[in-house]
Parts: sequence; C-alpha cells; structure tokens
Amino acid sequence: MPYRVAIIGCGRPIRTEGATGFGQSHLHARGYAASGKCELVALADISQANAEAFAAEHGDPAHPPAIYLDYQQMLAEVKPDIVSICTWPHLHAPMTIACAEAGVRAVHCEKPMAPTWGEARRMADACVQSGTQLTFNHQRRFEAPFRAAKRLLHEGVIGSLQRLEGTCSNLFDWGTHWFDMFEFYHDETPVRWVLAQIDYRVENKVFGVPVETQAVSLFQYEDGVLGQLLTGPDSSIGCANRLLGSEGSIEVQPRLGEGRRAPLRLRGKGDDDWVYPDVGGDRLSGPTEGVSQGILDLIDALEHGREPELSAARALRATELIFASYESSRRRGRVDLPLMIDDSPLLAMLEGGEIGRGGRVD
Ligand SMILES: NC(=O)c1ccc[n+]([C@@H]2O[C@H](COP(=O)([O-])OP(=O)(O)OC[C@H]3O[C@@H](n4cnc5c(N)ncnc54)[C@H](O)[C@@H]3O)[C@@H](O)[C@H]2O)c1
Repeated sequence: MPYRVAIIGCGRPIRTEGATGFGQSHLHARGYAASGKCELVALADISQANAEAFAAEHGDPAHPPAIYLDYQQMLAEVKPDIVSICTWPHLHAPMTIACAEAGVRAVHCEKPMAPTWGEARRMADACVQSGTQLTFNHQRRFEAPFRAAKRLLHEGVIGSLQRLEGTCSNLFDWGTHWFDMFEFYHDETPVRWVLAQIDYRVENKVFGVPVETQAVSLFQYEDGVLGQLLTGPDSSIGCANRLLGSEGSIEVQPRLGEGRRAPLRLRGKGDDDWVYPDVGGDRLSGPTEGVSQGILDLIDALEHGREPELSAARALRATELIFASYESSRRRGRVDLPLMIDDSPLLAMLEGGEIGRGGRVD
C-alpha cells in the first residue's frame, strides 16, 4: 500500500447515550479503506479503550495498527505518511504543527480549525513551511444538495447571484460549514468586509469551546454579492442555505412543515411555483459519504500535486469570517479584511467580562 495512515483521536465506536463524541474518526477510516491505497498503521488516543475498539473495527487483523497513548511518540516512531486529526478543536493546532514538524506528507484535520485566528494561521503556515498538504473536513463540498445548488447557480437558473443566506446554531462550530459553503457556491471569491453582532447570555460550549448564543453576521464579497449568517434562537430562514439571484432563488434543505425537509428546491426564471429537482441524493445530515469523498480527493491531490477541494487555504477563508464576525462585535463596527488579530475576540471578551454577564434565552 502506498500510504501509511495514522489516526489521532479515535472517538467512540457508538455514540452511546450521554456521550458527547461523534467519533468522526470512524468516518475518516472508511474513507481511507475505500481508497484501496492506504494501510492503517497507528492510532493515538489518551483512551486505550477507544483506540482498541477502533482497531477492532477498522484494523487489519493480520497487521493490527500500533496503539499509542502519546501522539508525539507515535509520530516519532511510526513516521506515518497521512494523519487524520479527529480530536476536539483546542488540540487541532498543536497536533497539526507536530505532524508538520515530524515530516507527515498530508494531514486531514476535523473542523473547526482552532479556537483562535492566530492558531488557525500558524497551523496552516507550519504545513506550508514543511510541504505538508493540509485539509479540513468541510465535507459538505461533496454532498449532493450543496453541489446541485452550485451547479444550478452556475447554469444561470436564478440569474446573477445577489445574496447568500444561512442559518445554524453558532458561527464557530457549525458556522464554519456555512461560511465554507458560501465560498464554495461563490467560487472562493474573497470577502471585503464583515459587520456583525454576537450575544453570549448563558454558558454555551461546543466541543469544549465557548460559542455565542446568538449572532448576525453580514459580509460583502469583492464583486458586491452580500452574505448573511444568522445563528441561535429565532434565526430560522426556512432553509439551511438560500442563494438569491436576480431572477429567482435556490433553497438548500428547505423546511416543508411537520419536521420534513427536502434536499433542495428552486424557483427560477419563469417558474410560478417551487420546483424540486432530482439532485442525485438526499444526504441531508449523514456526513459519511462526503467524508469519504473528501479523503479520496485529498489522496488524489497528494498524488497529482494539485490543490485539494478541502484545502487549508479555503478553510482559512471560512475561519477568517468567524473571527472577523467576533471582532466586529468587539469593535462595534465594520471589519475590513484581511483580519489583523491573533486572538478570538469572543474568548477575550469573555475573559475580560465584557460579554456573558448572564441573561435568559427566550
Ligand atoms: N465534519 C463534521 O461534520 C463534524 C461532525 C461532528 C464533529 N466534528 C468535529 O470532529 C472533531 C472531533 O469530534 P468527535 O465528536 O468526533 O470527537 P470524540 O469525542 O468522538 O473523539 C475524540 C477522541 O479524542 C481523544 N483524545 C482527547 N485528547 C487526546 C489527546 N491529547 N491525544 C489523543 N487523543 C485524544 C478522546 O479520547 C476521544 O477518543 C471536533 O473538532 C468536532 O467539531 C465534525
């Protein structure tokens, strides 16, 4: 097998009641297995039980992966070609930088990049310096409804793009996906400015990182197209993403009532009512297939020396919008990009007592 793969952070095989972990690592393992080009050689986890369960499910019984409790020791002794980092966000930057320093050829890290803008930039820089291909699991770039939305937009069915809208629980953990999707729909066009406000009225942590309870973020791309992401209570816009054009709109995952959602619908030029095209799949939330496709793409990119679809450069642009939104709230004003800060304004404001003084969520 050409590539020796290691996983850091094995998670749980089953998301048992009360457990917070999703076990994203298991989805990564399926992608490497599907490539037919990878051998799982090592696992690193502070939980021996998680690593053993993972090895039993994904390892080759004839050549079981070596188990390490210390990922640094694993990197030094095993020298893997590809490493998947599936731990929580506060560990993503130090682990990625350690992989880069150990000469790993490709790192595939879970989203979100890191809890601060400085860490996100440093982990990307470390990989540029070492020649390590770095990717982030923004797997919706491979999922059918999102790809169909981009294809329909580019076929011109809603005229020229005017505005992108989205809603989710928070800007950091989930918002990273929607900011990334906006970049995807809009061909990675750079953003000029961000104007946002955030609220943090009750303790709200996701994967150990505090996230706002509610936010509004408005931003403009270089070509004048506007983007808007709303989070928290009362942020519903009737769908997950909306692409508004000069002659119609596309809705990704629209709500149809009684808890039902469709993959996508559109009302384009000459349509009197919504049209529900067959988008080639209804993958609404189960990320398995997208995760595997992301891994097949990163292996192909490594072989051909091209930019992977899930590149760090693209992830950085989505991440910049998260921290620029927080920074706009701190400055009480518009933030012009590039973002020239190192911290997370949300974490800094929490530490300084400027936000999060308590309140209620209606
Ligand atoms: N792409 C997506 O759609 C998606 C979905 C869910 C979660 N995620 C992301 O995946 C990441 C992991 O979340 P999860 O729920 O899969 O995690 P998890 O809790 O299931 O697993 C994390 C594993 O990391 C191990 N670990 C902790 N500290 C470690 C250390 N120092 N060294 C080695 N191992 C260590 C834990 O023991 C555990 O086995 C998060 O960043 C989360 O945001 C992404």
